[in-house]
Amino acid sequence: MCAVPSVAVTPFLGRALSIGGADWEYVRSIALQLYFLGVEPMEGGPLYFNGVYLVGKGTNSVVVMCRPSWGGDTYACKIRRRDAHRSDLLAEAHALMSANYVGVGPRLVSFTRDVVVYRYVDGVPLSEWFTSRRSEGTLCDLLMQGFKLDGLGLLHRELTRPGRHVLVDGKGVPYIMDFETVSWGSRGTNVARLAVAICRLLGCDPRELAGPLRMYARVRSVEALTQVARAMGLECGFRA
Ligand SMILES: Nc1ncnc2c1ncn2[C@@H]1O[C@H](COP(=O)(O)OP(=O)(O)OP(=O)(O)O)[C@@H](O)[C@H]1O
Ligand SMILES: [Mg+2]
Repeated sequence: MCAVPSVAVTPFLGRALSIGGADWEYVRSIALQLYFLGVEPMEGGPLYFNGVYLVGKGTNSVVVMCRPSWGGDTYACKIRRRDAHRSDLLAEAHALMSANYVGVGPRLVSFTRDVVVYRYVDGVPLSEWFTSRRSEGTLCDLLMQGFKLDGLGLLHRELTRPGRHVLVDGKGVPYIMDFETVSWGSRGTNVARLAVAICRLLGCDPRELAGPLRMYARVRSVEALTQVARAMGLECGFRA
């Protein structure tokens, strides 16, 4: 039989998890999962909340910086809140793993039932990036990522609000985040959702996209994707 190690709970972790109303037992369970994943949570990130700095927080999770017990990388640890609507983060981890398979999303490192460890993206939300540093290449890259997810049959259902669910790093690389609310094999497409949202940011009329998007939904080809981009005034040079 394997003894459960005694794991120290840092004041930072206790404070971060108190955001979701965690009791002592839940905090200990998360500390144990972090221990088995070989990562240590640490204070840091752009959000100051409840007296600590965090990477972010949502209705289902608290995201904290973490580092491997050995090595110098910086990761993000998405930890399920005690009051989350979801009973675990396993489906999210599997969806992110599939997205990574086609080069989309922050790289998954490891996961347990309540913790997902993945690459920290030092970036800003798409809407914020757009006001200062818009570049055609980033928007084309984002459409291509939507195309790749469509190829998997994975629909990210929150891309109509990419301001929050897409981060753009300092090199202009966009990252689709939060694979919590996905569906498999749906009729809708990620390209349609991203195109309408990007079109709004660009100030174009989403109705102009109706024809190209209908065609894209039928054939889901690079040529059809090119026509969608053109309808927004983007010359992307996609290659099959
Ligand atoms: N790997 C990461 N790198 C940088 N920031 C991140 C990372 N993961 C999450 N974040 C930030 O943390 C915030 C919360 O993450 P996320 O949206 O995945 O949580 P959630 O609980 O699913 O939220 P929601 O209730 O909106 O669905 C996001 O706004 C995002 O900016
Ligand atoms: Mg979410």
